[in-house]
Amino acid sequence: MKKKYYITTPIYYPSAKPHMGHAYSSISADFIARYKRLEGYDVKFVTGTDEHGQKIQKSADKRKLSPNVFCNEISKVFLDLTKTLNLSNTDFIRTTEDRHHKTVQKLWKILEEKKFIYLSKYSGWYSVSDEAFYTESEIIEKDNIKLSVASGSAVEWVEEESYFFKLSQFQNLLIKHYEDNPEFIQPSSRRNEVMSFVKGGLNDLSISRNSFKWGISVPNSKDHIIYVWLDALTNYLTATNYFDENSSWPADVHIIGKDILRFHAVYWPAFLLAAEIPLPKTIFGHGWILSGDEKMSKSKGNILDPIEVVNEFGLDEIRYYLMKEVMYGLDGNINIDNLKNCINSDLANNIGNLSQRIFVLINKYFSCKVPDPKPLLKDDQKFMDCPVEGLRKSMDSFEIHNYIREVISYSSKINKFVNDEEPWTKAKNSDPRVGTILYIALNALKNIFILLHPVMPSKSEYYLSCLNVDTKNISLELINKNLPINVELKMPGLMFKKYI
Ligand code: ME8
Ligand code: MG
Repeated sequence: MKKKYYITTPIYYPSAKPHMGHAYSSISADFIARYKRLEGYDVKFVTGTDEHGQKIQKSADKRKLSPNVFCNEISKVFLDLTKTLNLSNTDFIRTTEDRHHKTVQKLWKILEEKKFIYLSKYSGWYSVSDEAFYTESEIIEKDNIKLSVASGSAVEWVEEESYFFKLSQFQNLLIKHYEDNPEFIQPSSRRNEVMSFVKGGLNDLSISRNSFKWGISVPNSKDHIIYVWLDALTNYLTATNYFDENSSWPADVHIIGKDILRFHAVYWPAFLLAAEIPLPKTIFGHGWILSGDEKMSKSKGNILDPIEVVNEFGLDEIRYYLMKEVMYGLDGNINIDNLKNCINSDLANNIGNLSQRIFVLINKYFSCKVPDPKPLLKDDQKFMDCPVEGLRKSMDSFEIHNYIREVISYSSKINKFVNDEEPWTKAKNSDPRVGTILYIALNALKNIFILLHPVMPSKSEYYLSCLNVDTKNISLELINKNLPINVELKMPGLMFKKYI
């Protein structure tokens, strides 16, 4: 049986259409999911939409639609985006689904039975945009408006009866968990941030609202609905049928943006500890896609539409650019000029050029068949060996950008080898070494496109099919298996366009 791997994206608020930041999160999770499949894992990859709460209710009101109708419409846009981005998700969860209501209510009942819930009154600041409660010290005033320091979104004063979760009891357990499991929160800068927040002390958390209706009801209560974050986080359990059978919980990694770290690294593990449910193994908080020097966000309206950019430059190109140029874990400013540079230098000039040159020669001198390599010289093997161990290490520490950089530098090395060997000159002189050189380069190209499969799935599959590789079974194991001699190849079309 295959080893299992469970990875999630945040479930997005369908309060407005998705932008490049959402695409970034999802593409990075897809990259990891696909890489794990290359390693031989049976990967469960879940994404979806977070549909309850005041933020959604207000967005629906603005459009004069019922929240239900509104969510159906925008959730569909996020679902369509999974197709546009070629995500390999195995599920798409909506928190308005029945399976989710059941899971959330069940979790609530467990927390209640275990006496971690009590009824009291909340009075304090609330940001509808973040769906978050803030303390006085987390608020600043600007032009007479109170804002959250962390997100910059407006807060309002809320006073209402509310159920509370005894979060304050979990301070020491959480700290112990962070200390015993250094891989729990990554990258380590995020871990430090969470650690110091928790060390500063935890207040009990309001986990119900009773001033509006759009949410999952608190069991046995007429007026209260469950706080949208308790509801939303539980999606990760719902997607595994946690309370039924054969659950694939716990998650290996929750991929999230750093804006929602506290919910995932403090509240979520506290709920799980309270319910005696195992914790996810890792929470990875990536950085923000910036627009200028601000976070790209629906509420700020400074967005780049992923669909437009994909239509103009191609999906695999965008995926490649985002995954390579933004260091995974840090913020990154993206812009069209850099995108063009990246496509030109890495894709068109490096990989594209290599493949074009090799195929032209294979076609011309070997009737488009894999040449017989013999004799291989002593040094030749090193050009076919690619740095798989280094790549594994990069992926084990979520350094996606380094993974890609290593593959590109491998491709540069093969380009240099081909330049130095000058097979085009040797071919004219009928030097038998030509077959060897092309054999080496073809196998290197096979390896490059296997390794790039997580980031450029469709280009990779197209190219591998030209190399007569079975694209249903792409795996890291194929790295050391050379193409069979004499196998017929198909000349690929132009792979990457150059931009000016
Ligand atoms: O917070 N750069 O949903 P959301 C990078 N429903 N990533 C970005 C980004 C940017 N500029 N903007 C958004 C929610 N994201 C909750 C989550 S999970 C149980 C509930 C990505 O629609 C990033 O992953 O506001 C961020 O965490 C997520 O979108 C927030 O999406
Ligand atoms: Mg947000």
